[in-house]
Amino acid sequence: MNIMHKACMKASKSLIRDFGEIEKLQVSSKGPGDFVSAADKRAERIIIEELLKVNASYGILSEEVGTINKDNKNNRWIIDPIDGTLNFLNGIPQFAISIGYEEKGEIICGIIFDPIKDEMFFAEKGNGAFLNNSRIRVSNKKKLKDSLLVTGGPKFDNKNKEAIFEEYIKISGITEASIRKFGSAALDIANVACGRFDGYWQWDLRYWDIAAGLIILKEAGGFVSFMQSEEEKSIKKNIIATNSNIHQELLDSFSKKLLSKINI
Ligand code: IPD
Ligand code: CA
Ligand code: CA
Repeated sequence: MNIMHKACMKASKSLIRDFGEIEKLQVSSKGPGDFVSAADKRAERIIIEELLKVNASYGILSEEVGTINKDNKNNRWIIDPIDGTLNFLNGIPQFAISIGYEEKGEIICGIIFDPIKDEMFFAEKGNGAFLNNSRIRVSNKKKLKDSLLVTGGPKFDNKNKEAIFEEYIKISGITEASIRKFGSAALDIANVACGRFDGYWQWDLRYWDIAAGLIILKEAGGFVSFMQSEEEKSIKKNIIATNSNIHQELLDSFSKKLLSKINI
């Protein structure tokens, strides 16, 4: 935990500086709908350097550089140096650093740091979840119709785009819940963990978007389900994450008919 904390704080200094100078950043295109900034790469380099300093043999899965030490299946860091890049690039203060740590394929601890609000969410298996110095818990809302949900995507080139928008409208109708979109998957989950949102769902995520969030949410008493086809069971890209009360009701709202249109 200390190692992650140190890496996070160091990278966040660089991010805060870059966020303040957003207009001067060199932005290069990484493909449609997906932008990567010089700040992103700088933060990633700092995080990886710090983590590998402590143990050079640990595996790394990070958004920009991909995989390092891929043969180490026992110890692995999962890194998203900026989650919410589009917000970051537009000067919107809703983004975070996300670092998860896996042992033998299981997420053991995670940290999500929002450097602008100075909010650090973290959790270690069995020890509860925290926001800065305070223990956090998911909300106690019991019914979807009283809930505030959050979702994200789809990117403009997503092959399921139409079905996802159609589903958004249906879910809004079926659940009668209020729904928001904030543009950072890591913070979306963290905000479910601390009870600001009651539930979150999103299709077509990448593992680094949610790895740290999974343990933070679980340790805060939340429930997570993945909607996957059999072949993609290990990818963990379609998530439904909620407080403990509304999970089944939200799962049931995604009827088979709705899901059949989306290529999960
Ligand atoms: C994105 C954010 C966004 C989600 C996208 C992600 P990035 O991550 O988490 O909320 O809707 O699917 O790719 O590109 O900003 O690291
Ligand atoms: Ca991300
Ligand atoms: Ca990112």
